[in-house]
Amino acid sequence: MNNEKYNSLSVVGTQWGDEGKGKITNYLSLKADMVVRHQGGNNAGHSISIDGKKYSLHLIPSGIFNPSVKNVMANGMVIDPLALVKELEILESQGIKDYQLFISDRAHVLMPYHIRLDGMYEELKGFRKIGTTKKGIGPAYVDKFSRDGIRFADLLDDELFQNLLKDNLLIKNKIFEAFGKEKFCFEEVYEKIISAREKIKKFITDTSLIVHEALENGDKVLFEGAQGVLLCIDHGTYPFVTSSSPTSSSIPVNVGIPLNSISKTLGVVKSYSTRVGKGAFPTEFENKISKKIREIGNEFGTTTGRPRRIGWFDANLVRHAARVSGLTDISVTLLDVLSGIDKLKICKSYLLNGKEIKYLPAGETDFNNLKPIYINLPGWKEDITNVKSFDELPKNAKKYLLKIEELTGVKVSQFSIGPDRNQTIDINQLFK
Ligand code: GDP
Ligand code: IMO
Ligand code: MG
Repeated sequence: MNNEKYNSLSVVGTQWGDEGKGKITNYLSLKADMVVRHQGGNNAGHSISIDGKKYSLHLIPSGIFNPSVKNVMANGMVIDPLALVKELEILESQGIKDYQLFISDRAHVLMPYHIRLDGMYEELKGFRKIGTTKKGIGPAYVDKFSRDGIRFADLLDDELFQNLLKDNLLIKNKIFEAFGKEKFCFEEVYEKIISAREKIKKFITDTSLIVHEALENGDKVLFEGAQGVLLCIDHGTYPFVTSSSPTSSSIPVNVGIPLNSISKTLGVVKSYSTRVGKGAFPTEFENKISKKIREIGNEFGTTTGRPRRIGWFDANLVRHAARVSGLTDISVTLLDVLSGIDKLKICKSYLLNGKEIKYLPAGETDFNNLKPIYINLPGWKEDITNVKSFDELPKNAKKYLLKIEELTGVKVSQFSIGPDRNQTIDINQLFK
């Protein structure tokens, strides 16, 4: 969908997260007036390199480095106030003090008991352990949907907050007790949250109004996705997913804006595949080449430090993401990491029970039994980290990008050849 009414762009992960969304959003934020994070919490880890300096963001939108950009944390997020204060303190110690931040009064507060519940469920589960980030994301969304959640608006109403916390602890402490876990003390939780609240209350507001006004003014609004479409609660590889929807179509609800608010959707596509946590991974492989990719691509989680699993590029998965998230363009990242690999593979379809399929089956057993059908492509040896245009790429790197375009059915509008912000080639000058 290409919607001309507003000047907005949504950036979504198209695989299992860690595609380089933070880097790409930060690059695009140079041209933006506003950056809006709309789902997830500090399960996300977005690494950003600006002129050789490295930053890690988990909750805060990637436009925070530019004082003229309004950064919004929208109602679809679950926000741990203690983690947020810590993240702001780390940024401050790195010299980032001049910024504009707005937190939705309708966003849900991720509480310390959510973190303990997340860890406890993971520990107790059998074959369906998810391998979560243990940041409390699932339990926080469960409380939202069971209407036990506490929102930032509630946090500002002290009497209501105390009552909500007491009510929640009544139930949660019974669960902890039943499983032989330590219970939470009301005063301790209350004091911790209140002390964080004092530091962030100046940012809490109705962000739907702010984003709406920006769109109507013709401001350039960038929507920053966390995770990736395959981790989507509805369209991902369930149950090995997160508890929110990282698709572009979830944005209107997650921000409180009209359906036609998204002009274009840019899918960030890693030039190979990675996954952290559990769940089947059709193109996964472990050998000398995957080790090299992990080392050169620094494929270790930004949030948990876990080594990421490595696989060949899977065009089926990205085609699925393109369809359910309505991609208009793609940005291929970490292309430099493939330099020096003689023979590259791309999965074009799967074999399931002897039949070729070009979609993603919903059944867990079917997904576990997929056999990738590969095409082989010749690699390139040259270092490409300094190229400045598509034309400067080695012939085989061009072919690789064009094959991705052909198999996914979405035009490659950008590619990235290193972690630094300036190592980005904007072929179609997105977001003018
Ligand atoms: P995100 O969660 O989608 O923002 O991605 P992460 O930050 O978790 O992981 C992407 C990693 O790749 C980070 O370490 C980035 O610094 C790095 N990165 C991003 N783009 C490129 C690129 O084009 N080349 C290389 N070598 N690294 C990149
Ligand atoms: P960014 O924004 C990669 C994965 C976890 C686990 C599953 C559920 O950096 O791309 P959760 O803690 O959300 O309940 O974990 O989802 N996961 C991510 N993997 N990148 C992320 O975010 C992720 N956020 C969650 O590893 O498999
Ligand atoms: Mg990440």
